[in-house]
Amino acid sequence: MKPISATVSTSTPAPATMLASDPALDMPNPDRGGPAQPLLVVRNLKKYFPVRKNGVLDRSRQFVHAVDGINFTIAKGKTLGIVGESGCGKSTTAKLIARLIQPDSGSMIFDGDGVAEFGGIELKAFRRNLQMVFQDSFASLNPRLPIIDTIAYGPRAHGLSAVQANERARQLLKRVGLAPEQFGTRYPHELSGGQRQRVNIARALAFNPRLVILDEAVAALDKSVQAQVLNLLQELKAEHELTYLFISHDLHVVHYLCDEVMVMYLGQVVEIGSVEQIYGNPAHPYTKALLAAVPAMDPAQRTRQAPLVGDPPNPINPPPGCRFRERCPHAEAVCHERAPTLLPMLREEGHQVACHMNDSLSVHSLRIGIKLDVNINRSGAITEGQVA
Ligand SMILES: Nc1ncnc2c1ncn2[C@@H]1O[C@H](COP(=O)(O)OP(=O)(O)OP(=O)(O)O)[C@@H](O)[C@H]1O
Ligand code: SF4
Ligand SMILES: [Mg+2]
Repeated sequence: MKPISATVSTSTPAPATMLASDPALDMPNPDRGGPAQPLLVVRNLKKYFPVRKNGVLDRSRQFVHAVDGINFTIAKGKTLGIVGESGCGKSTTAKLIARLIQPDSGSMIFDGDGVAEFGGIELKAFRRNLQMVFQDSFASLNPRLPIIDTIAYGPRAHGLSAVQANERARQLLKRVGLAPEQFGTRYPHELSGGQRQRVNIARALAFNPRLVILDEAVAALDKSVQAQVLNLLQELKAEHELTYLFISHDLHVVHYLCDEVMVMYLGQVVEIGSVEQIYGNPAHPYTKALLAAVPAMDPAQRTRQAPLVGDPPNPINPPPGCRFRERCPHAEAVCHERAPTLLPMLREEGHQVACHMNDSLSVHSLRIGIKLDVNINRSGAITEGQVA
């Protein structure tokens, strides 16, 4: 893929081979299942946060359905993007995967092993395979440590000697474009936002992870620095055979960086597919509205699709039915009665959509059964000889 052009450079990155050839970097997290085995499988992940209805003295509890039974898979060496409006559960999903918070239910399989399950991969080992980079580059660095020590801290905790860990930190700093002799002894407040985010990336790589979760990691950077960091992420991914989970509001950036895209709405997955499928043939009305809201530079590319109107419903105890129904131009009675299931799209491998219009057995008047000449009457029964 062609890199985004960025003219500003902090310093010359070290060659890729430098990191791989150093014996001090011997902290292997080996690939066990080969390329065909997904790196991460997430099944029915749920997190409901308890909240009090009327302040701290209220004993009655309600629940924010932050993540409500989501399923997805990340293939090795790929980048899965998660998009959706603020509050739809993107960061909660990331924290659940990293086990920064405990899920209420659900399971994860990492390279064929159940995470924190009997006979599976232990939580500590799983966490070493996974690192996170957050939007706030300052908050995730220790303000009292020079950055070289911050990067060396992780490898030291995982058994490298002080000298080895320091050398590894120097190499990583160089690799992310920060000369160690110039920047190594600086404290986080003595760096720009873009430089701090490079330090965070170096710190994440210090553990030799296989999965890196980037939660709005480039959102706070200006466009030229953002382009540099995105190009760096692409290079590092290829060099270290990394897999990314990339959370962003910026659909242009997601288009550039991701292989697959998962669209979330109010704690649920409404559509998932390859970047070509989601951007080229979006199927869910919410995805279409999200894409319609993206400003296009080319007038020929501008869409007439109406942008999103209204706000998402309250995530506390959401009612049954489709959660998008109050904002959907195609909502019908069935959308109020039953929640749609995430189903594969016909003739589009890997493309799944949760909408009654994509369910040939639903009673929605625009269901795909009509297009496909499948005979379904309005009560949902399949009949012969007539199209509903
Ligand atoms: N600790 C918590 N206690 C109660 N509710 C929470 C907690 N953390 C998150 N939530 C709620 O869970 C929902 C999902 O939050 P989350 O941070 O995952 O959203 P997000 O998609 O990352 O949003 P943004 O794009 O603004 O970062 C929101 O309604 C939020 O208010
Ligand atoms: S299920 Fe109904 S309300 Fe929901 S997106 Fe599809 S058509 Fe719209
Ligand atoms: Mg978030």
